[in-house]
Amino acid sequence: MFRKKKKIPCSPNEILEGWEPAYKNEQEEELCLLSYDYHPEKDGYSKTEGILFFGRHRIDRWEEGKLLERLPLEGGESLFLLRDGAALRLVLKKGGQRILLACASQKEKMHYGQCIQALNRYFEKGVWEPKRPLDGPERGGASGGGRFGGRGGSGSRGGPGGPGGAGRGRFSRKIGKAQVKWLFSMLKPLLPLLFLSLLLFIAFSAVGLISPTISQKLVDDYLGNEQRNSSMILPYLLLVLSLLACTVVQRLLSALRTRLTARIGCKAILKLREEVFSKVQNLSLAGIQKHTVGALMQRISRDTTVIKNFLVSDFGNIVENLTTFLAVGIILVYNDIKNGTFLFILVVIPAVPGALLFRAFNRKIHTMYGIQWQVTSRSDSVLHDIFSGIRVVKAFGKEKDEIVRYDGTIQKMAQVEKHNEIFWAILSPLVNFLMCLGEFTVLYFVGREILGGQMTIGEMTKLTSYTAMIYGPLRMMTFLPRKIMHTATSVSKIYDVMNDEDVMHHPEDAKEPEITGNVTLKDVSFGYEAGKPVLEHINLEVKKGEMIGLVGRSGAGKSTLINLVMRLYDPDEGQVLLDGTDIRDISPKCLRTSIGAVLQETFLFSGSIRQNIAYAKPDATGEEIVAAAKMAGAHEFIMRMSDGYDTYVGEKGCTLSGGERQRIAIARALLLDPKILILDEATSALDTETEKQIQEILSKLIAGRTTIAIAHRLSTLRNATRIVVLDSKGVAEEGTHEELMRNEQGIYYGLVMAQRKMSSVKGKKN
Ligand SMILES: Nc1ncnc2c1ncn2[C@@H]1O[C@H](COP(=O)(O)OP(=O)(O)OP(=O)(O)O)[C@@H](O)[C@H]1O
Ligand SMILES: [Mg+2]
Repeated sequence: MFRKKKKIPCSPNEILEGWEPAYKNEQEEELCLLSYDYHPEKDGYSKTEGILFFGRHRIDRWEEGKLLERLPLEGGESLFLLRDGAALRLVLKKGGQRILLACASQKEKMHYGQCIQALNRYFEKGVWEPKRPLDGPERGGASGGGRFGGRGGSGSRGGPGGPGGAGRGRFSRKIGKAQVKWLFSMLKPLLPLLFLSLLLFIAFSAVGLISPTISQKLVDDYLGNEQRNSSMILPYLLLVLSLLACTVVQRLLSALRTRLTARIGCKAILKLREEVFSKVQNLSLAGIQKHTVGALMQRISRDTTVIKNFLVSDFGNIVENLTTFLAVGIILVYNDIKNGTFLFILVVIPAVPGALLFRAFNRKIHTMYGIQWQVTSRSDSVLHDIFSGIRVVKAFGKEKDEIVRYDGTIQKMAQVEKHNEIFWAILSPLVNFLMCLGEFTVLYFVGREILGGQMTIGEMTKLTSYTAMIYGPLRMMTFLPRKIMHTATSVSKIYDVMNDEDVMHHPEDAKEPEITGNVTLKDVSFGYEAGKPVLEHINLEVKKGEMIGLVGRSGAGKSTLINLVMRLYDPDEGQVLLDGTDIRDISPKCLRTSIGAVLQETFLFSGSIRQNIAYAKPDATGEEIVAAAKMAGAHEFIMRMSDGYDTYVGEKGCTLSGGERQRIAIARALLLDPKILILDEATSALDTETEKQIQEILSKLIAGRTTIAIAHRLSTLRNATRIVVLDSKGVAEEGTHEELMRNEQGIYYGLVMAQRKMSSVKGKKN
């Protein structure tokens, strides 16, 4: 019994014919795009694949490739979001009417928020100025198969002003001048080698051109000669030897060029990977978080390999075939003129419909590779996600669900690949057949010439060899577009990242002041998403040597505040100053050596404990490392381990306990002997006894340093000179523990009392 397979909504065909071509020449009109994955009209969550096109004068709603609705913009419109269970509903207010435009999964919240804010501003003021680039390439993807989904490449494209405007259309990744120029500049050091390899390809093809002429002589002058006799054996042998020499020379050239191209390939991939990786490293945190891990990994590993393969084999083949085509073309045309034949035309004409066929499907081929890229990167991301959270998977016994999740992505990948292969399996033989037609016509016409006595058998051998040679380049057309598109997709994807301007800008004359530890936040506002501030107008002054305790409910923005102090993000408004200098003007090196941080999520790299402690100061001596570990209360447990400081800690430090990881992270921060110490829940994973010990150590450590400590266990902040309470409006309270406890209506008082109550309940239970 055949079971009807569940349709996976990712068939390239569906999106080909629909909306995208309709906007081919509308760059000027387009503001932004939003994708959605549920029918807005239907109740429940009925899946669909929709696109909202926001133009300057209209909104178009497309579903599954069909234009369903066109709403003209007449002024006075506004957009807002409604939350409805697990979905978001996008509503347009227009002349007192409310029109439901889209229904999308919550994952789209951030991208929707950004777009709506920018669009509402456009409706109000008529200026299109998205606060942030709306094009965040591959992140997200509408739930399930939402190929249009996500904040980004698949779901949006850079509006004017967005840096992602490189390619039109999410899947039609065409390679343009800019991309070629970039690739050229990247490979500049390899150009002499590339040129040499091209010469070898050309020489290979030139030597190949000699053989048919020798073959003609063999047939006409010797084998087919009616006066043939044994005295001809020697010159005949010489001709055979010259044929052999041609073959030997060709093999030698081939070996040489293989060696050379292998060298070029290794160098090219090294250079590309270095460049892409360092660019990604230099992106701001927000810039990196726009992409999924899978998409970034795909660029660094797979896309660079695709480009390398193109350079190593396809590029040379193109040149070789082009040379052959031109040379054989000249020979055939010369022969045609001499003999009054039309061989060249007969050979080339059937290739014309083949070429036109490819041209007609050009866009489809682009799209196909774009989709393949997307599904592959999505599948990589899922895999990364599952392996990163393997403990959680095991703890909740979710292995089967994860198998299903991964299975879904690879099925989708297989379906897209199958679709692409089927397409090629139809197109290639068709084009091949069209080209073969030429061979038959040539056979007929050459035969006619021989039978008519106008051509010798030797000439026929020569001409058929040449025509066979010209079919090589023509046949190449059947696979070349595929390779070029594949490479073009990879080049565009890498170029998008290389061209991303979302980097932390450092002035060339960055200062390296002697940091003493005064930290000032001057009217700082910041939000991860446009229109959703997390911190608003924060003013805070921390004097050198002070210890500030940051307190507030979960999600109040405590970690965000220290992210700004460390310059992991730049504030949207206001300034963060260190000793009066804006941190944007301080060199990254100076900043990193002045601030030591123990972050909320303790991350250790796979490697030894020694390497992890010395991460921020690789040249630290053994004594320094031990001293830092002792200060952090880590020395004892490290010494109890089989290899001491050389113990391997596994990926993310998985072989250590949470408390052990935290103490190593504290040692790592202390090794820098920083002027500013940031502790974000630095002792949360420790038992009360160890925490007490570390608190005592910390109380000594904070002397002479500025410390900003975040802790939910308020008792751990008793050393703080000041406590700052954050709430949604910013700094809500500020003062010493005693001062804040005097305000019985205050947030701090409430938090302390709640914790006391909790510990007394626990105490009673015990
Ligand atoms: N990378 C991010 N992208 C988008 N939103 C974020 C990001 N990081 C944090 N947020 C949001 O910003 C808000 C503040 O987060 P933050 O981590 O600063 O809170 P917190 O006060 O440190 O909370 P906790 O006490 O739970 O650690 C939260 O609403 C959170 O969802
Ligand atoms: Mg936090």
